[in-house]
Amino acid sequence: MSTVTDILIDEATLKQRVQEMGAEITRDYAGQSLLLIGVLKGAVIFLSELAQQIKLPVAFDFMAVSSYGSSTESSGVVRILKDLDESIEGRHVLIVEDIIDTGLTLDYLYRHLQNRKPASIGICTLLDKPSRRLVEVPVKYIGFQIPDDFVVGYGLDFDERYRNLPYIGVLKP
Ligand code: IMP
Ligand code: MG
Repeated sequence: MSTVTDILIDEATLKQRVQEMGAEITRDYAGQSLLLIGVLKGAVIFLSELAQQIKLPVAFDFMAVSSYGSSTESSGVVRILKDLDESIEGRHVLIVEDIIDTGLTLDYLYRHLQNRKPASIGICTLLDKPSRRLVEVPVKYIGFQIPDDFVVGYGLDFDERYRNLPYIGVLKP
């Protein structure tokens, strides 16, 4: 049985940073409308809080992908479990992720969505574990860089648990 021991990023710090990111996105996309693409399920809480801080016309869409592998390691082989509902051609798209670890999932998604001819495409992640990166992905917005710990909460899970924690915690065996 795993337990969450340390709080890595508390609720107030998350809230503050998400507010700053929303303000930055609002400035960068001024005068445009934006399609936020959330990667299920981990990005759901971040996307919903971030979207409220973006003062522009925003639409949501969601994708679900699975990267074959165990629950804590991704393999680089990505399968689309749920595709977007709408076309992204000609639209300004921001992919919203919970965490970039190896980068394999986002590398695949980014290139896949680029082929669908959006007007622009960017990546926004709440968390980044740079020490684990296997492929470079062009990330436009990063909430926090974190050390190589397995984290849960604020949408992130271990075996579907802990997504509802209002903070980011470190999972210890
Ligand atoms: P990547 O393809 O290795 O970048 O993996 C990204 C995905 O792995 C994320 O969207 C998460 O679902 C999962 N993941 C990676 N690190 C963690 C972690 O520390 N906690 C929870 N999920 C993680
Ligand atoms: Mg995820």
